[in-house]
Amino acid sequence: MNLTAPTPHIAAQPGDFAPTVLLPGDPLRARMIAERFFDSPRLVNNVRGVQGYTGRYHGCPVSVMASGMGSPAMGIYSYELFHAFGVQTILRVGTCGGLAEGLRLRELVLAQGACTDSAYAAGFGLPGAFAPLADFALLRQAADAAAALHLPARVGNVVTSDRFYAEPGDDSAKKWRQMGVLAVEMETAALYMNAARAGRRALSILTVSDHLFTGEATPAEERETAFTDMVRLALSLLPGESA
Ligand code: HPA
Repeated sequence: MNLTAPTPHIAAQPGDFAPTVLLPGDPLRARMIAERFFDSPRLVNNVRGVQGYTGRYHGCPVSVMASGMGSPAMGIYSYELFHAFGVQTILRVGTCGGLAEGLRLRELVLAQGACTDSAYAAGFGLPGAFAPLADFALLRQAADAAAALHLPARVGNVVTSDRFYAEPGDDSAKKWRQMGVLAVEMETAALYMNAARAGRRALSILTVSDHLFTGEATPAEERETAFTDMVRLALSLLPGESA
């Protein structure tokens, strides 16, 4: 499909987005990232309150926009950014629910791969199951940067689910955990599939906000610090940066 800017969901002009875009789920977080970290941020989209900003970080052009929640929303925004705005790299910065034993609140999960229960993959009409993967160079750089910044991080599989609320008796989380899946969230598989199809780069950097088996949850005030650490890590992946 030949998609041109502005798109149905992004009212911006060609060139309004930097080659690298950070994608948190929440529009208010997008604005917070732009205001706190970018030099001279400029609002480039506000369709449906999905705020997109472009500015500079240590001189390097960078954008941020919300992805919304779930694979359909991530599917739309990442598709339009890759295909209509020439975006090369998307870094998701979001939260996840811990599954793995010993995974601690606020620990980082770098999503090497993303299993999914979503029907998003079916749209590609493949003759088998696709394995959605992170860009390896970004993943390696992020793992090294986390170590340099002394941020505890795990690298491995996540599961991208279409459901936040499970029916009573649903043991999906237990089954994913038995397969070594670290955490559950709702957007990474769609992002990695769109990046693969577009021939572009993507990585999901997640912080554990709650744990499905221990019932622990991060208090609101600590969420902010954890989020800031994750954004710093993402920004250290920009060209010319080092952690
Ligand atoms: N499920 C799905 N997505 C999430 C969760 C969860 O428990 N926690 C944070 N994001």
